[in-house]
Amino acid sequence: MVKIDQISLPDFPLLLAPMEDVSDPPFRVVCKANGADLMYTEFISSEGLIRDAIKCRKKLDIFDEERPVGIQIFGGDEERMAMAAKIVDVTQPELLDINFGCPVKGIVAKGAGSGVLKNIQLMTRLTDACVKSTSLPVTVKTRLGWDEDTKNIEEVAERLQDVGVKALTIHGRTRCQMYKGEADWSLIAKVKNNPRIHIPIFGNGDIDSPQKALEYKNRYGVDGIMIGRAAIGYPWIFREIRHFLETGEMMAAPTVAERVEVCKQHLQKSLQWKGPHGGIYAMRRHYLNYLKGLPGIKEFRSRLVTLDVPDEINAVLDEVLRTYDGFEMEYTPIHLVNYHENCPL
Ligand SMILES: Cc1cc2nc3c(=O)[nH]c(=O)nc-3n(C[C@H](O)[C@H](O)[C@H](O)COP(=O)(O)O)c2cc1C
Repeated sequence: MVKIDQISLPDFPLLLAPMEDVSDPPFRVVCKANGADLMYTEFISSEGLIRDAIKCRKKLDIFDEERPVGIQIFGGDEERMAMAAKIVDVTQPELLDINFGCPVKGIVAKGAGSGVLKNIQLMTRLTDACVKSTSLPVTVKTRLGWDEDTKNIEEVAERLQDVGVKALTIHGRTRCQMYKGEADWSLIAKVKNNPRIHIPIFGNGDIDSPQKALEYKNRYGVDGIMIGRAAIGYPWIFREIRHFLETGEMMAAPTVAERVEVCKQHLQKSLQWKGPHGGIYAMRRHYLNYLKGLPGIKEFRSRLVTLDVPDEINAVLDEVLRTYDGFEMEYTPIHLVNYHENCPL
């Protein structure tokens, strides 16, 4: 068993990564139903929460069936972060997570996200301010360091633990790498092997198959892994990894009927939570993977991403089921998209 403060998780927990516009409550519900052990909201601006921006407040919503859930916040000002941490308390998630990993220019420029990787003292102060103003356990998600020459995660981990952080997730890239190259987990393993570190250390970056999850578990000795892109439109990645870890065998790929069923559930939750417009739009990034591997599916997919009436979308999904019912799904390798490829540094 892995414990984050008082929260008990199974051995080697599988975490759903915080992902902007992806890790919303409807998606988290389907990931939970398919084996995610702990999930996070997308990052939420501390400023937005304080200003009572409706969009930010909405991101605090949690469906009961998805717990345990951590709410992730970001910001570069101690007082404002402390205030935001208090606001989060009221909504009663299981955890508060701080984002010290976001590489996006606009966020970094405000001294938030991975911007603080250049200033460990500020990072420690921001964390301390949150820990002191919330009753929730505080966790942190960050990267290896700012750039190739300043991979300071070993020191960062100690400082964060010292101010009361209860678990740390490390994405095995620097800020300057954005999403380029391969995630390097060797420094994550070093943090885990530091005898001073006693909080759970979760590894993150590039896990896209059950085999890789097992390989990285054994090679790097982390307490659990966090999965991001591989889960988009493929919530089954969690149960497939769990099954492989427990049996050494690959689970059969989800059937067409199951894919359609889960996709419909996701759509329904999305409509319920975001309303007709937002709900339909949010689903569009998921169809590609939900229906991947079906020959000739492109035509259905183009319709799914252009229709904007729920009944019509459901009708297309029914048509997919009729067309492909009984089709033997094979395990299709997951392709990880480089989302920030064109993002300026
Ligand atoms: C679309 C997208 C949005 C993301 N938004 C966040 C975020 O809000 N907070 C955060 O800490 N990381 C965010 N990330 C980074 C992921 O949490 C994760 O660290 C990264 O994708 C690497 O993991 P992966 O290789 O399993 O995808 C985002 C990633 C993607 C692809």
